[in-house]
Amino acid sequence: KKRVAIFISGGGSNMVSLVEDMADPDHPAKPVLVLANSADAGGLAKASDLGVPVVSVDHRPFKGDRPAFEAALNAELDKVSPDILCLAGFMRVLTEGFVAPWEGRMLNIHPSLLPKYKGLHTHSRALEAGDNEHGCTVHMVTPVLDDGPILGQARVPVEKDDTAETLAARVLVKEHQLYPACLRRFAAGDTTRVDL
Ligand code: GAR
Repeated sequence: KKRVAIFISGGGSNMVSLVEDMADPDHPAKPVLVLANSADAGGLAKASDLGVPVVSVDHRPFKGDRPAFEAALNAELDKVSPDILCLAGFMRVLTEGFVAPWEGRMLNIHPSLLPKYKGLHTHSRALEAGDNEHGCTVHMVTPVLDDGPILGQARVPVEKDDTAETLAARVLVKEHQLYPACLRRFAAGDTTRVDL
């Protein structure tokens, strides 16, 4: 099985969806580490409950020294030799120095239909633009933020009374379907696009 490390920053609901899918004995991958950039990340307890090793590497003591923070991330990854790195709500920007060696083996989920709305506040931006459709994207990570080859997208309608919160919740349900579907294919060496 391919060895998967997952980076989170918050509640980790996408991480849970990936770990639960990998519980299938026929899955081509298994989780070897969940790493958060804060000991407060709610997802760490969830990962522990699911039997996955966890670690936190707090970015704050590095005071903006991204290469030093990334060296600490790499030190944790080196201990578990992952084949695939999944970003799942990881809210720190990674530099080219970190990303380049992982290129082709690192995935991310982003809450918009890329190339629309790279960066933050994707749901309010979709509402402000008057979009009637929104969604999420799983892509391979390159040094350019929220760029890179798309592995899959899932679409949801925008309803007329939507707030950023109601729209985010509708997208999140789809994220939990899309990311596991994409990781399954990717770990099996299949980069055929997933559309949900
Ligand atoms: C998800 O909606 C994910 O797409 C988004 O953060 C949320 C994390 O939720 N990611 C980004 O915005 C990346 N820039 P989770 O911790 O419950 O998976």
